[in-house]
Amino acid sequence: MRGVDRRRLKTGHPGHVRQPFCRHLEERLLMDQVSARAGVRKKEETHMRAIVYHTYGSPDVLKLEEVQKPVPQDDEVLVQVHAASVNAADWHLMRGTPFLARFVNGLQKPKNTKLGADVAGRVEAVGRNVTQFQVGDDVFGCIPIHELGSFAEYVCAHEDALALKPAKMTFEQAVAVPLAAFTALQGLRDKGQIKLGQKVLVNGASGGVGTAAVQIAKSFGTEVTAVCSTGNVDMVRSIGADQVIDYTHEDFTQNGQRYDLIFDAVGNRSVSDFKRALSPNGICAVAGFTTLPHLFQVLVLFTI
Ligand SMILES: NC(=O)c1ccc[n+]([C@@H]2O[C@H](COP(=O)([O-])OP(=O)(O)OC[C@H]3O[C@@H](n4cnc5c(N)ncnc54)[C@H](OP(=O)(O)O)[C@@H]3O)[C@@H](O)[C@H]2O)c1
Repeated sequence: MRGVDRRRLKTGHPGHVRQPFCRHLEERLLMDQVSARAGVRKKEETHMRAIVYHTYGSPDVLKLEEVQKPVPQDDEVLVQVHAASVNAADWHLMRGTPFLARFVNGLQKPKNTKLGADVAGRVEAVGRNVTQFQVGDDVFGCIPIHELGSFAEYVCAHEDALALKPAKMTFEQAVAVPLAAFTALQGLRDKGQIKLGQKVLVNGASGGVGTAAVQIAKSFGTEVTAVCSTGNVDMVRSIGADQVIDYTHEDFTQNGQRYDLIFDAVGNRSVSDFKRALSPNGICAVAGFTTLPHLFQVLVLFTI
């Protein structure tokens, strides 16, 4: 420290000698604080909390972890999740059952460690090719089965998987719609070719898919018979069903009635049961299955 007056430095005299030394320290301190703050901000920007699972099993395998925040591709939207809903798909993929589910997400352990298809939230960022949405839009939609991830603070979705949330709906109301209602719509309209005036039966009418199916079938101007258990009869009637069959007391395949379209959201009946309840040119669309034999029977034998 050539040329430095050590006395003045020691006593902290506010002279020229002390200033350069102190300024250096202060600058270092300031820089450390700034970089520490930047580190915190950077972590907030690059990480998020998500429900993840690393092994198949019961709900005990689900953990809340800090993971990498997704970055939207050019045609994707980053959504800040306000609400998510749970579907049968999440249950099957979490448990890895039936074994077929593992062909979607890894035989030994899940490749995609996130779950959650349905999402409602606010657009946080958009990829450069996104045309339908902008930052701040409220959206809802359904993420494809191999890209699940809405049980998290943020999720990316292709813009075609999302729609603007109607202002009158809450995020919670909106998120109850996508996967279950798409399944019902595809079954009734695309596979079932539903038409005005038809007699339609919905099996499993009180469930997620079934409640959507009853309302969609009514909106096509059909006569709807809903099948559910005793405790749900009033609810199913309240959403528009013309007739309700309580399956604990009556078998819809044995009562002599015939339907132009049967939409099955349970998957517990045989192909011969369906044939018995269908009119000669009737169509049956099956959305679920309770056992693998039921699934294979429908896949192999349904040529009505
Ligand atoms: N949720 C989805 O987004 C989705 C998408 C694609 C496929 N699926 C498949 O569709 C099926 C239904 O899914 P979900 O989400 O609607 O399930 P859910 O909400 O649990 O509903 C199950 C329905 O099945 C009825 N049910 C149960 N046992 C029955 C029986 N013995 N006879 C007649 N009905 C019976 C229930 O009626 P009660 O409660 O009145 O007893 C209820 O209406 C599942 O196989 C699922 O894998 C679901």
